[in-house]
Amino acid sequence: MRILTGLQPSGKLHVGNYFGAMKPAVELQEQGEGFYFIADYHAMTSGRDGEALRTNVRELAIDFLACGLDPEKSVFFRQSAVPEVNELAWILSTVCPMPLLTKCHSYKDKVGQGISPNHALFAYPVLMAADILLYDSNKVPVGRDQKQHLEVTRSLATKLNEAYGEGTAVMPEAIIKEETELVIGLDGRKMSKSYDNTLPIFGDEKKLRKLVMKIVTDSTPVEDPKPTKDSTVIALYKLFAADAEVQSMIADHESGGFGYGDFKKRLADAYWDFFSEMRLRREEILKDPGYVDEVLERGAVRAREESAKVLSRVKKAVGLA
Ligand code: ADP
Ligand code: TRP
Repeated sequence: MRILTGLQPSGKLHVGNYFGAMKPAVELQEQGEGFYFIADYHAMTSGRDGEALRTNVRELAIDFLACGLDPEKSVFFRQSAVPEVNELAWILSTVCPMPLLTKCHSYKDKVGQGISPNHALFAYPVLMAADILLYDSNKVPVGRDQKQHLEVTRSLATKLNEAYGEGTAVMPEAIIKEETELVIGLDGRKMSKSYDNTLPIFGDEKKLRKLVMKIVTDSTPVEDPKPTKDSTVIALYKLFAADAEVQSMIADHESGGFGYGDFKKRLADAYWDFFSEMRLRREEILKDPGYVDEVLERGAVRAREESAKVLSRVKKAVGLA
């Protein structure tokens, strides 16, 4: 079984990325062959700073390895190390009906956030479909916001096969974990870089703890019981703390006598502890600057080997070879 996912190098990794995409990807490494990549072509749809892209690719690679991606088990590479993905994207775009793209939320959302409405941003799901189909991927762990892109991918796989009798060999499936499909951010909305409401995975302890203190709560006095429904603090605490600790926090909300500052402190402790092992691993990786390059180069060779097989099959089917 092949498991594949990509993450965009577009800023600091946050807790939503970790639980929505990275943790499931790391766990799935045990069940099949992982193909994990840094979606640098995709990142170009929303940023135009070459230096920042270079830095972000490197940072993301370090973070992904620190979070448990094991390059002995999985293939880890940057998307642009296999430029053939663009060739498959072009082929897929020739069977892609316009309405399949015009109905995608992500384009509209991003334009709504002020990103320039360029062609690549619009065609983004086609490149994503190519990422997935180029490696005959079976399972694609992602957050809920990517579900529609997986539907586009499946649809394009079907269209290619209908048009040419063959092309793609596998019908990929999204793996979306219900418990963590939508991690909420400091302001109660979806945690996202674009909302500036994130808890980063790595960073300075003082700054990270301060962020937890910024979580929006109501003004119930300390002595009164506090609502547990829709509580951002409890929702985030559930990600980091053991069941018994969560139950105890809920009970303390219900009984009253505890302030939000106390709950946030518990959350900050649990959040800090949760990533401690990964922080240590990150420090280790940073000590050996050549390691990341070596891993990515090795991954690229392996990814190209695999992509060559699929591309050759598709090119034969469509008449390009
Ligand atoms: P952002 O919204 O911060 O820009 P990305 O769109 O780069 O994040 O998402 C990278 C991956 O992390 C995707 O698979 C996405 O589904 C997942 N992800 C992002 N935010 C969340 C969240 N709040 N909850 C669950 N998964 C998320
Ligand atoms: N679109 C994904 C995101 O924004 C990143 C991505 C690109 C991806 N190609 C992919 C995810 C292929 C899974 C499979 O997070």
